[in-house]
Amino acid sequence: MTEILVADAAGIARAAELLRAGSLVAFGTETVYGLGADATSATAVAAVFAAKGRPHFNPLIAHYPSAEAAFAHVEPAALARALAAAFWPGALTMVLPRRITCPVALLAGAGLDTLAVRVPAHETALAFLRAAGTPVAAPSANRSGQVSPTSAAHVRDGLDGRIAAILDSGPCAVGVESTVLNLTGARPFLLRPGGVSVEAIEAVIGPVQRGVTLDAALRSGTLRSPGLMVSHYAPALPVRLGAVSVDATEALLAFGPPLEGAGTVFQLSLAEDVTEAASRLFEGVRLLDTIGARLGLRGIAAMPVPEHGLGLAINDRLHRAAAPRHS
Ligand code: TXA
Ligand code: MG
Repeated sequence: MTEILVADAAGIARAAELLRAGSLVAFGTETVYGLGADATSATAVAAVFAAKGRPHFNPLIAHYPSAEAAFAHVEPAALARALAAAFWPGALTMVLPRRITCPVALLAGAGLDTLAVRVPAHETALAFLRAAGTPVAAPSANRSGQVSPTSAAHVRDGLDGRIAAILDSGPCAVGVESTVLNLTGARPFLLRPGGVSVEAIEAVIGPVQRGVTLDAALRSGTLRSPGLMVSHYAPALPVRLGAVSVDATEALLAFGPPLEGAGTVFQLSLAEDVTEAASRLFEGVRLLDTIGARLGLRGIAAMPVPEHGLGLAINDRLHRAAAPRHS
């Protein structure tokens, strides 16, 4: 049963307590309702993807109660402070390089070295974020393929019984998602138009490149920032999928009991639980890539992961890692 919480002090405290315990809590913002999880818990973040039924891992926005809190986890590019001063709290999301010390789970950012951050302009949301005391990873609180919810009733229609609670703060004033701006490249560019107009942004920071989707950006390399993506979107070592045997020249990404003969092993889930495996995927690929290169191994052998639940998203990501390189 999904609890519906009234947005008073008791409801906000309950929502924060559930979130800190690893449960999923939908909450209203000025744009749309978000499906919140403790961003520092890979397990909680994996549960978000499972509840939404997403067939692949999109990077999520981490929500903070203040710019200061956000910039403790990402490096504010030169323009980011000016944008924060002009538009935060508000409907602007900035993609910035993660700090080395950033505690946000890799899965929340889909393994990228960047992180999307936002400070929402909504009293209840801000009170909830302050009470949570941890960054809150939140995609829009709809099932995959459905439109973003702008009321607690919309959230319940899609996610009733799949999440712990909905913090009901009434209808969303803006009603469209936040504007997503990537600030990790040489020039700022728009990843998604939204609640803050490009014209308003340009009035503060000058010209913004438009119309670049995340996938196009990944292909063209314009998302690059120091060290970006190297070990995730394209691990240095080749990945071999569906491995049913392995030898000592390969690192093994194990799902269930490791294959015989494996030397260097990262276990995704001994119990063969796809949600647990998802929570450990990016960490595992990075580690094997780094260790494998150091040990002079020739590749990563990935054991088969079943195509149910988050297994779909895991296989989608492993297929990309195994695909021929562009550059
Ligand atoms: O208004 C909003 O933005 C709402 C509320 C809850 O804050 N959230 C929202 O989240 O719409 P979501 O997950 O539905 O959309 C986030 C968008 C996606 O298009 C995603 O690809 C992009 O932000 N994004 C997130 N992190 C990114 C990153 N590191 N690099 C590039 N794009 C990123
Ligand atoms: Mg969405």
